[in-house]
Amino acid sequence: MSASMGCLKRTEYCGLLRSPDVGKSVVLMGWVHRRRDHGGLIFIDLRDREGITQTVFNPEFHPEAHEVARRMRAEFVVAISGRVQPRPPGTENTLLPTGAIEVVVEEAQILNEAKPPVFPIEEQTDVAEEIRLTYRYLDLRRPSMLHNLRLRHNAAQAAHSYLDRHGFIEVETPMLTRSTPEGARDYLVPSRLNPGEFYALPQSPQLFQQLLMVAGFDRYYQIVRCFRDEDLRADRQPEFTQIDLEMSFVDRDDVLSVTEGLVAALFEAAGKPSLPRPFPRLTYAEAIDRFGLDAPDTRFGMELADLTEILRGVEAKAFAEPIAQGGVVKGMNVKGCGAFSRTQIDGLVDYAKGVGAKGLAWFKVSAEGLQSPLAKFLGPIILERLAERLKGEEGDLLLLVADQAKTAAETLGRLRVKLGHELKLIDESALAVTWVIDFPLLEYDREQGRWQAMHHPFTAPMDEDLPLFDADPGRIRAKAYDLVVNGQELGGGSIRIHRRDVQSRMFAVLGIGADEAKAKFGFLMDALEYGAPPHGGLAFGLDRVIALLAGAASIRDVIAFPKTQKAQDLMTQAPSPVDVRQLRDLQIKLDPD
Ligand code: AMO
Repeated sequence: MSASMGCLKRTEYCGLLRSPDVGKSVVLMGWVHRRRDHGGLIFIDLRDREGITQTVFNPEFHPEAHEVARRMRAEFVVAISGRVQPRPPGTENTLLPTGAIEVVVEEAQILNEAKPPVFPIEEQTDVAEEIRLTYRYLDLRRPSMLHNLRLRHNAAQAAHSYLDRHGFIEVETPMLTRSTPEGARDYLVPSRLNPGEFYALPQSPQLFQQLLMVAGFDRYYQIVRCFRDEDLRADRQPEFTQIDLEMSFVDRDDVLSVTEGLVAALFEAAGKPSLPRPFPRLTYAEAIDRFGLDAPDTRFGMELADLTEILRGVEAKAFAEPIAQGGVVKGMNVKGCGAFSRTQIDGLVDYAKGVGAKGLAWFKVSAEGLQSPLAKFLGPIILERLAERLKGEEGDLLLLVADQAKTAAETLGRLRVKLGHELKLIDESALAVTWVIDFPLLEYDREQGRWQAMHHPFTAPMDEDLPLFDADPGRIRAKAYDLVVNGQELGGGSIRIHRRDVQSRMFAVLGIGADEAKAKFGFLMDALEYGAPPHGGLAFGLDRVIALLAGAASIRDVIAFPKTQKAQDLMTQAPSPVDVRQLRDLQIKLDPD
């Protein structure tokens, strides 16, 4: 067996051969996808990144090549030379782009043998994801994975080209840097030359992109890796990629309009129909009010209604008490589900509790009115008003949550999405794109008893809300916006604070004193005093955008080498223990306790 390619030199991708190539002499290289030995003839389906081509080995005409083919096995790497010919009539495969032709092999070489693959390299696979991730290089041989990563390449190229055409300059920003507060834990990197000190990997390039505006770059962009040590989900990875952009002398609508153009370019690159522009907008207040969530899935109805005034002061404590404590009651109508069994309803109650509700009240609408264990504490007039408000008709199921406003909205909002999927109310092929605007600047963290930035501390408040810093910080609206598609946040950004005095007030309300602000963000505070222009920007989660365009259930399917839920790379086995000497160099001692 020869391991060298001898004098064979590849002439084309086997997967690109078509009828017009008939008669051509070709040299192909690739992997043995399948081998069929018919006693006399041997057929090898040869695969490369462009597809699969049938090759034929005939012992009568080319006995040496046939002998090599007898030794070939699945996933062997081989080279063949031969001539393209039409497949005999009746044997064409219309399902295969190369199905009209085959290659009659004259010479063959095995370039490398392969162990039997751990799982078959097929489009459909039911092999466990851990196995796919451990042998990712085999998994990536599957056409759908290659397709996803090609789509990602095309989208990234389209983003580069669009942003270049619109005057954005790509600038790389440091990976070894200081912590930028985006709300997650940092990944830290110890510094050998500065023992006891650490870099943080960027959670986003936020401050650098702002500083580039202070530097006068006017329009910056970067397709950049970001790192966040947070609990992982299908749409979260510890390292992920953002398309980041920042612009000077703009207002919110300028940023939204450039971004909509970018989204259009990405959709076009993926061969998707274009979305009508401008994209619809919802205020944060409206999103919470109608859908319960700040990333609402607007593909279906079942909107929430506020029932607080109807239920204020009623005998039923489940409603009256939360309202008396400043809370609200929200409800929704699950159309036609009044026949849900007790077990089904208990399932909904458990789900609501699991996502933070104290309970879930339910009413079945029947010909005799509302049926519920709570009905007797409410009386006929209130029951009637509830039914009316929720447009309850015979056979409907009404669900209510009483709690603090945020919890009531959020728990019911999440139940709405769950039911939307389960009851198939969502057209999975539909795309509902919406901007969510006018976010609050701050949200109150009850556990810690302090204000937190809803986006990040560099987001500008609305000019007219500036006086509220003293009077009522919770009512300050931010110049912030999120792009939401099908209930998922794809991107977010804001107009930034460009004045030092406003930035100081923001830090102060967040409980970051002058000394801490100077220590952590002194460079930013200084820069704001050296001629910082008004500026704003936005970041897209590229992985999420590609997953949406590819129809992938998880962003792991659009990342070549992703991590597991436990932030592990099963292939390289990272993270891993390190050599004691390395720790000594860094002056780090492990203390397992
Ligand atoms: P934000 O934190 O909203 O904003 O992040 C922007 C977008 O990045 C994506 N994203 C993630 N994708 C995968 N895995 C993760 N762990 C993850 N975390 C975030 C989301 C999100 O919408 N500096 C600001 C942007 C700005 O203000 O310009 C920022 O990073 O799609």
